[in-house]
Amino acid sequence: MQLLHLFVNGEEHAVAAPGQRTLLEALRYDLMLTGSKQGCDKGDCGACTVLVRPRGDSGFRGEPILACITLAADAQDLEITTIEGLAGPLGLDPIQRAFADCGALQCGFCQPGMMLSARALLDKCDKPTLPQIQEALSGNLCRCTGYTKIYEAVEVAAGLRTPSSRAPVQSERAAASDSKAQTVTEIVP
Ligand code: FES
Ligand code: FES
Repeated sequence: MQLLHLFVNGEEHAVAAPGQRTLLEALRYDLMLTGSKQGCDKGDCGACTVLVRPRGDSGFRGEPILACITLAADAQDLEITTIEGLAGPLGLDPIQRAFADCGALQCGFCQPGMMLSARALLDKCDKPTLPQIQEALSGNLCRCTGYTKIYEAVEVAAGLRTPSSRAPVQSERAAASDSKAQTVTEIVP
């Protein structure tokens, strides 16, 4: 066991952990920041993405890294932003608002990593092209949405478009319960 000092979402935390503890495990199981998801746990899916910058740097939150393949001990000289730290004092980050407005999620499992990768892109490039968005999110896999709405959400957050209108769901009206006689037939074996 060793005592690790992690600076996460603006706060310093001391964590007693074995040397092989990954940053993702420290976030989820020591700090209870479960927004960073444990998907493949081997660097393939992007669900564990967090943003990091050197301690003391100001300005943007930094670059995306994969917390599942980063040792917690190696993250001690970094300032880490997880999805729990993305919203600011004025409310949701524009990326979070745009994902909600565009309906860019289904199960939600990929969303924390996806939103943080998108935030890092917009911090570097405030008017990205679609290929730049696709490239920036290429390490974040989504098994549900087909990506179209996600790319749209990033464009909305960048002010490049408005959310495409969504037709209201049309469901058939349920028949009134007394509109048909209910026939119950006794089945005789
Ligand atoms: S959990 Fe899949 S890349 Fe980290
Ligand atoms: S919304 Fe389900 S994995 Fe992306």
